Order: sequence, then structure tokens, then C-alpha cells
Amino acid sequence: PPLYIITPTYRRPEQLAELTRLGQTLKHVKNLLWLVIEDAYDWHPLVTHILDRIGVPYVYLLAPMPEQYRKGYIPRGVSNRNRGLEYLRANATEGVFYFADDDNTYDISLFEEMRYIQKVGMWPVGLVTSTGVSSPIIRNGKLDGYYDGWIGGRKYPIDMAGFAVSVKFLHERPNAKVPFKTSFEETLFLESLEPLERSDIEYLADECTDILVWHTQSVKNGPAKPFNETLHNDTNLKYLEM
Ligand code: UGA
Ligand code: MN
Repeated sequence: PPLYIITPTYRRPEQLAELTRLGQTLKHVKNLLWLVIEDAYDWHPLVTHILDRIGVPYVYLLAPMPEQYRKGYIPRGVSNRNRGLEYLRANATEGVFYFADDDNTYDISLFEEMRYIQKVGMWPVGLVTSTGVSSPIIRNGKLDGYYDGWIGGRKYPIDMAGFAVSVKFLHERPNAKVPFKTSFEETLFLESLEPLERSDIEYLADECTDILVWHTQSVKNGPAKPFNETLHNDTNLKYLEM
């Protein structure tokens, strides 16, 4: 079955480096379509350039965050992921999809484990903090709670990188979507997939005892620039045109 990897991305100095690293990881995975979805109003020629060079089958779509959300603690990657769901509803019939942020660190065996998910699969996500991991806790083959640095009253206190869903199951849940509610994106998306029986959820990565994906981030250099002032990419573009 095919894998659909939905990757939100946006313009900032790290973007091309992140996409290069993730793309090189995805090159090791067969039968995969990479949905690269940028939070922007126009396609960036350099993104197209490196996606072509990487050679992983891809679709490059746009999904700008509505301006009303673009202040304070913003709901990152939400419009992008919903655009990915819209694409799947129109174009996919089988397989599994996964929300893979552009900055995380993925072990390629994760992709082969998730490929055969029947409905919903979950697994641990390594955190590079003293918390160490965010994970469902499995005892005697059954869910016995969750471990996370911040439970926050969430029904499914898991990370965006810690689950995948089958396309068929998505088709049975036409109203499922990622909400513009910062920090509650994961739980509310999973809640939008309900009814979700305990037996509908598979726990992968050796019953959640192994870490196959890490929530990482690159160090930001200097203050963040506003959305439309990422001059660095214009500079890169000059090199490309030379
Ligand atoms: C995590 C989750 O993936 C987000 O869904 C959640 O919003 C966030 O935690 C949070 O709770 O604040 P995190 O690593 O903190 O993500 O955020 P980023 O990696 O900066 O962003 C998540 C994804 O959205 C990335 O793929 C990034 O490229 C994309 N993004 C980020 C945008 O498309 N637009 C933005 O303005 C920022
Ligand atoms: Mn991140």
C-alpha cells in the first residue's frame, strides 16, 4: 500500500536545509508520495528545484495560514495539513497518511511499520528535552495511559509525529480535520476521527517501547522575520540564476 507523507513547510532560513534532510530520508522509502505543502501564497522556485533534485515523487501545494491566526502563539502547519487531507479525499483510495513536519528526525523503519495500519496507529516520539519521550503506555498489550511532559487535559496527549491513519479510514470520516487551536491540534484531530474504538488503534514500535522518530528543531539564527521578509531565499535564488 502507498504512503502519503504530508509535510507542512514555510519560508525561513532553515527551510531548504530541512527539506533536503527529510527528502534524503524519504528517498529510502518505496511507494511513497510526498505532499509538500507550503504556508505561502506563491510557489517558490528553489523549493521546486530541490524537490526535483531529490527525486522523491512529490506534489507541491500551497496552503497559507489565514491572517487572523498569524499572531501570538500561532497554530503552525494547520492549513497545510488540512490541504493535505483535501488532496487525499480527492486523489487517494488506499494506503496510509502521516503528518511529517519538515524539521523532525525519522528512522526509515517507521515508514514500513506504518504502511500496514488498518485504521489508526500510534507510537512514541523522542523529545530532545529532559522529558525524553511522549508516548502511549502499553501494558499487557493494552493502553494504560500516556506519558508526556504536558498532558493538558487532552484526550489523546500525543505528538503530531506519533500517529498515522489509513486513507480508507479517513474516507469514512468526512468531517475529520486539524483545528486552528494551538497545542490541541493532535488531540482534536484524533477526536474528529471518532468513533474510535480501543481496538481500532494499533500500537507500533514494539508496543511503544522503541523510538523511531524524534521531535527535533534547528537553532534559529537571529530574530524571526515576518512572513514576507525572508530575504535569504531571494539571495539563494540569485545563486541559482547565476
Ligand atoms: C508541533 C506540532 O507539529 C504543531 O502542530 C504544533 O502547532 C506545535 O508543536 C505547537 O504546539 O506549537 P513545532 O515543532 O513546535 O510543532 O512547530 P514547527 O516545527 O515550527 O511547525 C510545525 C510544522 O508546521 C512544520 O512542518 C513547519 O514547517 C510548519 N509551519 C510552521 C508552517 O507551515 N507555518 C508556520 O508559520 C510555522
Ligand atoms: Mn518542529
